[in-house]
Parts: sequence; structure tokens; C-alpha cells
Amino acid sequence: MKAKIFDTTLRDGEQTPGVSLTPDEKLRIAIKLDELGVDVIEAGSAITSSGEREGIKKITSEGLKAEICSFARAVKGDIDAALQCDVESVHLVVPTSDLHIEHKLGKTRDEVKTLAIEGTEYAVDHGLIVELSAEDSTRSDLDFLTQLFKEGINAGAKRICACDTVGMLTPEKAYDFYNNLSKIGVPLSAHCHNDFGLAVANSLAGLRAGAGQVHCTINGIGERAGNASLEEIVVSLYSLYDVKTNINIKMLYEVSKMVARITGVYLQPNKAIVGENAFAHESGIHADGVIKKAETYEPITPELVGHRRKFIMGKHIGTSALKQKLEEMDLHVSPEKFDQIFNRVKSLGDMGKCVTDVDLEAIAEDVMGIIADKVVELEELTIVSGNKVTPTASIRLNINNNETLEAGIGVGPVDAAIVAVKKGIKDLADIELEEYHVDAITGGADALIDVIIKLKHDDNIVTARSTQPDIIMASVEAYLSGVNKILSDEEAKRVKEGDL
Ligand code: KIV
Ligand code: ZN
Repeated sequence: MKAKIFDTTLRDGEQTPGVSLTPDEKLRIAIKLDELGVDVIEAGSAITSSGEREGIKKITSEGLKAEICSFARAVKGDIDAALQCDVESVHLVVPTSDLHIEHKLGKTRDEVKTLAIEGTEYAVDHGLIVELSAEDSTRSDLDFLTQLFKEGINAGAKRICACDTVGMLTPEKAYDFYNNLSKIGVPLSAHCHNDFGLAVANSLAGLRAGAGQVHCTINGIGERAGNASLEEIVVSLYSLYDVKTNINIKMLYEVSKMVARITGVYLQPNKAIVGENAFAHESGIHADGVIKKAETYEPITPELVGHRRKFIMGKHIGTSALKQKLEEMDLHVSPEKFDQIFNRVKSLGDMGKCVTDVDLEAIAEDVMGIIADKVVELEELTIVSGNKVTPTASIRLNINNNETLEAGIGVGPVDAAIVAVKKGIKDLADIELEEYHVDAITGGADALIDVIIKLKHDDNIVTARSTQPDIIMASVEAYLSGVNKILSDEEAKRVKEGDL
């Protein structure tokens, strides 16, 4: 058996509160979805706005493999708007529950049936494939729903779709519901919402019951609690049901991250398949098991979905994971030093801190006594900042026993200080600040500030940190510590080349 994937990230997914995509963003996502292998891309709802039509048109002009579809209500204006965008199909929607028919539309069942038939005929006459969809169908009268679908098919609809609009199904009910509709005998889609966290389970039950296609979104984004998540459905089908799709599973993590970045809807870390913790192991027992044989605590390999395994350095850490991590970092330590590092990680964990890679490197370097020589030292730093002055910094540095005095302005005091530092270290002024993280370790206005930075010079990337009560001092000290690391690496490289 093979299941078809109808992706509605760009329509139902875009209905996520706060998400609004530009035409170019829609195009970028559509190109990725096509590469991923989805069968249908619901590119939007053409009637919505001119920007929406521009986005859909860009997608249909791209010559993608997937069928490009527009959402349309069963009214002429919506179908005409879809036609203007050159889509291949319409997802033609009418509500079928009495609740929606009476309270939302103020119409009767017969009027809605007529709308569905006439809308289908109009779209088919204009060359569109019609997937006739019933909104709130899981709260509709089944006989009426079946009748409406049958008449829609007589009018030319090629596929039907039953929507669990407010996520009221359970997997058991979903099985019976979709099984009944599958008897109509045309391709059937399950469109499930996640109000009770059951969208994926219900979609899978729908597929088992005879639906051949599921509607889903990347990361499960969508109205309220969202839609069924594409990655969870596809990987469950592949790993648990042995059902194939056209999806290139290896791309799932990459596509998930791209959609999160563009929509600004970031994932909870424990999101199945694509969350940051989906393959992260903290407990010593788990990490040890995974190092010996990954299947002990991983149902699928992270590589299957293009993700990666992580061992978390916290208070539950075990020796195997720490050994592996230090080896990955190319840090070779004696058994005594290893114990010291292990205990430092544990005690930081007890203080409620999770040890990042940068932390671990700093702890290991400290324990091993690897501290870069201080070629550049801070002698004096003065900052002027406020609401009516340009943030200005003057800095006195001691570089190889020579003093240098420089000043800089910036968008804020930290920026001004870094500008002044860069002027002071002329030879290394082309250093790039790749990352800058600030964390308040303790609470209150007098919190200890932890600054972690990543600097790049030529091919060398170093990380450095400083923890101080003053954010500007912490930033400058972290920066200078990184500069000293780069100088020390470059000196070591010169010595090595001289040796050869
Ligand atoms: O969930 C739903 O009912 C829908 C329809 C409007 C197609 O998204
Ligand atoms: Zn929906």
C-alpha cells in the first residue's frame, strides 16, 4: 500500500495565529515541499488577497512535480481566483454539519448541496481537478454527507475529503468514519485537526480504514492546536505500518527547520521526529545503552530523518557519554582529570545548569590547564551611554606589553566597546563575531551575566566565555579571551610549520 500526502502547510498551516507568508516565502517553501516529494501542495486560498494570488502564481509558474492546488469555497469568485493562478486543482469546500450550515451560513442542507454541485460543475467545466471537501464532516449527519459526496462525484469531483475540523475524532471513531466513506469508491482524504492531540493517530486510522490520502502540515502547524504533522505521519507509516509514501524521509529535519525559521513558529524540543530532543539522551543509563547499541533507546536512527544524536551533559550524565563527547571534541584526558571534569559537570547539573559544548570545553581546558597566553589584556574601559548620547567606548589595551588607546561608537554600549576593541587589535580587525549569547545566570538586576561568543578568523573558529555582573565587561572579556585563543592557535600553527 502507498499513501498520498496532500500538504497544506501553505494554506491551513498559514492559518496559524501570527503567521503570514510573503509570495517569495511561499515559493521557497513550495520548492522544498516538492523536493521532499509531497503529492499535492495546497498553495493557499487564491481569493484571500492579491499577495496570496501572487504567491500561488509564482508556485504554479515554477513547473514543480507536485499537483498545485488552491483552496476555494464553492462560489464562482473563489474558483475564478484559483483559475487566475493557473492551479491544477481546487480543494473545494462546503460545510456539512447543521451547526455550520445553520449558524455560520444561515442556509439549509439542500442549499449547501446545490452549492457543492454547482461549484464542482463550474470548476470541472473550467478544467480543474476537484477535491470536494466537507468541513466539520465528523459532526455531520452521515447520510447527508454521503449523499452530498455522491452528487459531487456525479458533478465531476475526482476526490473527496472529510474534515475533522475541530479534532473531535478518536482513532476508533476515525476508523469507522473513514471506512464508511471509503465505500463511496473514489479517492478519499482524511483531514484531521489536533485539538485533542489525536490528529496523527486519527489520520493513521483513516488511512488504515481506506483513505488513500492525508492532509497534513510540516511541524503540524495550523489553526488552534494545528493539523496532523506530516513528519509524524510519514515516519509512523514507514516505521510502524510498513506503508510507503513518496516522501524523501531524509529531508524531514531540514524541511521542518526551514518551515520553523520562515514561519517563526518554533518547535517544542520534545516534538516527535524533528524536535531538538527527539534524539537527545541525558540519563547515563540511556546514553551508555545507545553508545553500545543505538536501538536500546532509539526507535529509529536520527540519520533516517536527517537529524542527529546528542548526549546532554547534565546531572544525569554517565561516564560513557562524557568520554564519547570529549573524544568528539578531540580532548584526551587522564583518568584523574576525567573524574574532575565528570564531577564538575555533575555539580553544575545539581545547581540546575545544563552544560553546553562550550561549557564542557571550558571546564576541560581549565581542568587540563590549557589556558591561552594572554597576549592582549584589558587595562581600562570607559563607556558613555544613555538615552540622549551616542553610545561611546574608549579602551586601553596592553598588547605584548605595548599600550594602545582606542575609541568607538556603536548602536549600544556593548557594540561600542567591541568596535573599540577591534580598532585596538588592528592585526586581527577582520575577526568575525559569528555568535553572541547572553544568559542571566542568577535572578534580579544584579544577576551574574554569562556571555558566550564564537569568533572566526580565516578557517579558525573559537568559542570563549566570561561571566561577570556587568554585561559590557563580560562581553569585552569574552571577546578578548577569544582573540587570545586565536593568537595562541596561530602561534602554535607557526611553530608547527617552522618545525616541518
Ligand atoms: O479543517 C477544516 O475543516 C478545513 C476546511 C476548511 C478544508 O481546513
Ligand atoms: Zn483544516
